[in-house]
Order: sequence, then C-alpha cells, then structure tokens
Amino acid sequence: MLRISRCIGLTEDFTPGGGWVLSELPFILCPMPIRILCLGDIVGRPGRKVVEQKLKALVRDLKVDLVIANAENIAAGSGITANLFHKVRSYGVDVVTLGDHAFRKADIVPTLQTSERIVRPANLAQQAAGRTHTVITSDAGVQVGVFCMLGRIFMNNLPSDDPFATADKVLRQMPPSVKVIVCDMHAEASSEKVAMGHWLDGRCSMVFGTHTHIPTADAKILAGGTAFISDLGMCGPYDSVLGRRKDKVLRFMTTSMPTQF
Ligand SMILES: [Fe+2]
Ligand SMILES: [Fe+2]
Repeated sequence: MLRISRCIGLTEDFTPGGGWVLSELPFILCPMPIRILCLGDIVGRPGRKVVEQKLKALVRDLKVDLVIANAENIAAGSGITANLFHKVRSYGVDVVTLGDHAFRKADIVPTLQTSERIVRPANLAQQAAGRTHTVITSDAGVQVGVFCMLGRIFMNNLPSDDPFATADKVLRQMPPSVKVIVCDMHAEASSEKVAMGHWLDGRCSMVFGTHTHIPTADAKILAGGTAFISDLGMCGPYDSVLGRRKDKVLRFMTTSMPTQF
C-alpha cells in the first residue's frame, strides 16, 4: 500500500509490490478533501478476483470517495468486454481507464460510446470510439475529471498523437467548475511519465502511470501540488511475468516461437 499525504507532502506506509495508490489530494487544488483510490492494470481473472475480494473493504476502511482503475488487461490479459466492465463497476470501481489494449475486444465499443464511466486514451485518432475524458460526481458531491493517454516511447501497439499537446486540449475542454482532475499516463518509459507529471504539475490533481505492471517507488507531491507516481503496478498474480504465465513467457523468450501467454 502506498499513501500520498496532503499534509506533509511525503509518501508513507509504503509496502513494495502495491499495484495501487491512495491519494488525499492537495488542498490548494481541491477546496474540500477527497480521497481517490487508483488501481493499476487489472490483469485477467486473478486481477478481477483480488479487486472483487478486496476493494469494498478498502473503500470502507480507508474512507475512499472515488475509485479509478485501469482495466485494459481485464479480459484474459488483453482488452475489456462490456460484461467485465459492468462486473468491475459492481466491485466498486467508479471510472475505468484504458491503454494500448483498449480495443482488443470489439465488444466494448458500444459501451465506450455510451458510458461516462470509461475513457479511452485521449491521444488516439479523433474518430476512435469512446470519450477522451469524463467528469463524474463523487458521492460527496465533488466533480472529478478523468482522462488517460498513451505514451509514444517504446509503445507499438496503437499509434498515438503527442500526449503533451493532447493533455492541454483535454484540460481546455474540462468545464471550469471541475477542480479535481486525474490523469492516467499509460506508457512504457519512466522518462515520459515523469515528464508528463511535470507538464501537468499544478494543473491536474494527480498524474499516475500505468502499463508496465511493475510499481515504482517514486510517489510524491510535485512542486506545483500535483500527486504523482510513475507506475502503480498491476492488480494481478505476483508469480508471473507481468501477469502472464511465467512458463509460457519463458518458452517464448527462450525459443522465439509464437506462444499464447
Ligand atoms: Fe497493461
Ligand atoms: Fe498497456
């Protein structure tokens, strides 16, 4: 578990191998305290199971106002279906973000078009299915804007536009009444995620990284007041390679032969 405290601006309660971050957002960006729990990539059935089993108690015990989860790998490790979207919502996830596997299951497309509880990466083609950002209201009545973007460095699955310019565009489109904005920067390179944190410092309440499935130990409050971590890690099996079966990944890496993970 990793908690970012607004009071002292330091990280505390750090246990390696997290997969999620709880942020009590800086007062300067939010006129009333709000606690947002963010979950890194939920991977396959093990990821779904742990969220199903643990999330409700976490929300209750930590007095969480809102849960944001990246679920790009929730369907057998790649993509998301409408059924799984509704399932993860029923577990207590308020908003789903996605990544380079967003469209792996075409089944999700109608949901992307209709639900305000799921966003696709904002820096895709303009005609791509789904919304670039969403604004929802927490139980306590706080409006929260959420968007996600893809990095461009070492990311080959889905071509994407400049995430820095896209972030500016998304922020311009957010209604002025929205004071709490959370960005999921779905990217491979730490440098790109750290740079995005600084780019959005003071303009977003929180910028968290996803995609690598490995948590980083750099949670902090940036100079402008934005909560930041390079990567949350995943909700998935530890005894694996990034949530995939270790024997199959090893077979692929040692033989170069196509293998289903
Ligand atoms: Fe992922
Ligand atoms: Fe990804």
